[in-house]
Amino acid sequence: TTIAAIVPAAGVGSRMQHSAPKQYIKLAGKTILEHTLCKLSQLQSLSQIVVAVSQTDPYFDTLPCIDSRILRANGGQERADSVLNSLLFLENNPPEWVLVHDAARPLVTINDIETLIAHCIADDEGGILASKVKDTIKRGSTHSEQTVPRNDLWQALTPQFFKYDELKNALQHALGEGVTITDEASAIEWASKPVKLISGRSDNIKITTPEDLDLAGFLLNKQQN
Ligand code: CTP
Ligand code: MG
Repeated sequence: TTIAAIVPAAGVGSRMQHSAPKQYIKLAGKTILEHTLCKLSQLQSLSQIVVAVSQTDPYFDTLPCIDSRILRANGGQERADSVLNSLLFLENNPPEWVLVHDAARPLVTINDIETLIAHCIADDEGGILASKVKDTIKRGSTHSEQTVPRNDLWQALTPQFFKYDELKNALQHALGEGVTITDEASAIEWASKPVKLISGRSDNIKITTPEDLDLAGFLLNKQQN
């Protein structure tokens, strides 16, 4: 089995309201992107680690080289475009499977990634890390109109792990039809293919707003000890 990783890192981080894109904020001694790449580089099973960054990104090439398997690809307008560009970047020598992991999720554990990969390969089905919703969920705008039963609700995390061909076809078709695609699983669902839910740690947060930084810094420091 051949597996390549794809790391979407071409966002501008508008919700973080920081001068540089959030993946270049330093926490616990290095940038968020470096933490993420350090985690992935611990996986011997990956043949390549394709990082999608903006074509005009001045920061990426200044990072110390963490791993010789890391390659730079061009991102796109939306996250899904960045992932599709990365898949096309691999087109001449495609892997069997791809592991897509947000640059903004440096807290993922190797154990969770290995569990996801093992279950998907064993059952020959794609899947994602996800965590069961813990809060009571309300629907409404200014007033709560409804409490949404949460027994079958999950928060989608990354990595998301799919067959290369299946993901490329699903993304190309879904984007071509103008479907809103916020993760790989939504493209696969749209193509009526299975998406296995693999329970992962809920502290694998996507660093999104300024209030995520203290918690992420604390957890990264803890992981390094
Ligand atoms: N991403 C990407 N290409 C884009 C948009 C996002 O590769 N065109 C990446 C981000 O860099 C991030 C991941 O996808 O690692 C998850 O996206 P998100 O958390 O939304 O990051 P941003 O889009 O940068 O943040 P915001 O939505 O607040 O602007
Ligand atoms: Mg975004």
